[in-house]
Parts: sequence; C-alpha cells; structure tokens
Amino acid sequence: MSDVLDGTTWTQDWIKQISEASDSKELDKVRIALLGKSGILTQELKKLGSLSVEERRTVGANLNNIRESFERLLNEKSRKIDEAELNKRLQQEFLDVTLPTRPNTPGKRHLLTQISEELSSYFCARGFCVMSGPEVDTEFNCFDGLNMPKHHPARQEQDTLYVKDCANMLLRVHTSTMQVRTFLSTGVPVRGISIGSVFRNDAVDATHTPLFHQIEGFVVEPGITMAHMKYCLLDLLSFLFKVDLCAMVARNEPIPVRFRPSFFPFTEPSSEVDCCCSRKDGELKLDLDGTWMEILGCGMIHPNVFKNCGIEHFEDGTPVQGFAFGIGIERIAMLKYGVTDIRHVYEGDMRWLQHYG
Ligand code: PHE
Repeated sequence: MSDVLDGTTWTQDWIKQISEASDSKELDKVRIALLGKSGILTQELKKLGSLSVEERRTVGANLNNIRESFERLLNEKSRKIDEAELNKRLQQEFLDVTLPTRPNTPGKRHLLTQISEELSSYFCARGFCVMSGPEVDTEFNCFDGLNMPKHHPARQEQDTLYVKDCANMLLRVHTSTMQVRTFLSTGVPVRGISIGSVFRNDAVDATHTPLFHQIEGFVVEPGITMAHMKYCLLDLLSFLFKVDLCAMVARNEPIPVRFRPSFFPFTEPSSEVDCCCSRKDGELKLDLDGTWMEILGCGMIHPNVFKNCGIEHFEDGTPVQGFAFGIGIERIAMLKYGVTDIRHVYEGDMRWLQHYG
C-alpha cells in the first residue's frame, strides 16, 4: 500500500472496496467508479481548474500520486483474481485419465466404410488392385476421355459442379474417371477397382445428396467378354446378398437379377442390372416375389475410351477389350441394410451410427 493512500478516510474506503472485490466483474465496477470517465478521481482532477496556480501544483501532484497508487492496487488485485479464477478452473476441469471408460461405447465403423472395406477385400481376393484418384479432376478424365460429347447433359452446369475460375476442372461426377487415369498411367492389361466420393449438382432429398460414393471396377485383359462381366457381377451380387446366383444359373433356374439393355457413352454394349428384392422382418431377400430395383451400371468398355488413352492393342496384337461397372455404395446400404433415407447416412446421429455401424 502506498503512503499517499494512508491517512485519508475517503481513500481508505476505496482500498477496502478493492480488496473486497471477489471477481473480475466486481473489480471492474470499482475501477470504473474510481478511474473511469466520470469516476471520482477524474472528477477531482477536473476541479483543479478552479484552483490557484500554487494550489494546483500541490493538489494536482497529490491527486496524480493517488491515481497511480490506485492503479497499482487495482492491477495487483486483478492479477490475484485471475490467478484464483485459473486455479478454480484447473481444479474443476481436472481430467482423471485413470478413470475407467464408460461401458458399451466403443466406436464403430461407419456403414459406408464397412461396405467399402467389404468390397475391397472381396475384389482384392480376386486379383483386382485398388486405385485411388482425386475428387477434383479434369474435364478430359471425367468426360472427353470417356467418349462423352460436349453436348452431353451431364456436362451442363446444372448437373455438374465446376471449380470456379479454374478452366476444365470439376468435382468428378463418377468414379469412371479412374478408368481413364488407370489406362493412361498403368496401361493394359489391368484389373482394378476404385472407391470414392462423387458429386452432382442435386438438391437433397430422401434418395439424393450432392455427394455420394461409388465403386468402379474394370477388367481389361485378352479374351475378356461380356460373359465374364456377367459372371463377375453375379458373383459379386451373390456375395453381397448371400445367395448363390451362379449355382442357380447352372441349375437353369430363373434368377432374381436381370441385365437390362441401357446406354452409357463409355460402354458398348451397356447394361443396367436390377435385383428383385423383398424385405421380411427387416432382412433383405433376393427373390422373384419382390420388386425390381436398379443396382448398377456396366458394359464393355467403348473402343473410343481406349483410343482416347492411346491404347489399341494388347501386347500380343489382339484388339484391346474389357468391361467396366459402377455401383453406388449408398444404393447398397439402402438395399442391403434397409436404410430408407440417404440423409441419415451423413447426419452423424450417434444412435444411427450405433445401429448401422
Ligand atoms: N459411371 C456410371 C454412372 O455413374 C456407371 C458405370 C460405370 C456404367 C462403368 C458403366 C460402366 O452412372
């Protein structure tokens, strides 16, 4: 405590207020009442004008000393309060890392991760390599290389998200970009899959989101025909839906899967594959009593796609040929696990994650 503050009763009262302030808010109030624009000391300093030069010198100097002393006291107290508040917080926020974890709350893999991992291990076991590529890609990799002409509707801005001020760059609309990337970099023969996000300029509803996931697959090897594609996809669907479609075909039985002629600019001939499914007690079953639902697109890779990548023949001189297919991962989630609204997949609701993880 400073000497100038000793002895005078009015200063004693303020000293008491400062020392009794219990938190920074209270201390601020005292500071303002004392030193603020209309605070008591400021008022006193304003009165100096009416005094004689002699008096002004002594009273002014005294008031300034008092102000400095109060400032020091206030700062000291403020430091003490800050320290006390920090100590209190440290005590309250103490984290005991030795406490046992709460039971039954281990993390789970997201449904999309689970399906993707299941598919990668299925394909890896069958000699496919996993390719990965960027989500922002060129118009060539997404469209031109894939034989999609300039006037194709998918190339319009209302369907595709282009990168602003960046010529020819866009958010890929399908994982078929990986066909072009692989043919250009690895060449042929090749057997690959690629799993990742794709983007479309769609409004959000129960079955559409601007971002979703696809798995692309392609097999380019000498002698590969549409029959191989059909077997490959029937085997994949058998794996996904726990039926043996290939055995049913061998027994000449009608199967709950159909290859429906379709069109894609990058495959010829092209086909879409529908599954006939029904749901009993939440379990999905492939059987002919259900309803037909589209599940994937496929076809023999168009010769122009190879040509655009500078490939015409295999090493042995035979013309290059192969098949490709694309499946929506969310589509599998909705079919196989009965997810009714695609939006739930992305909401991060813990109960949903616990249930479907
Ligand atoms: N890229 C197509 C789509 O997004 C799917 C597809 C892939 C079709 C490969 C044929 C061959 O719909």
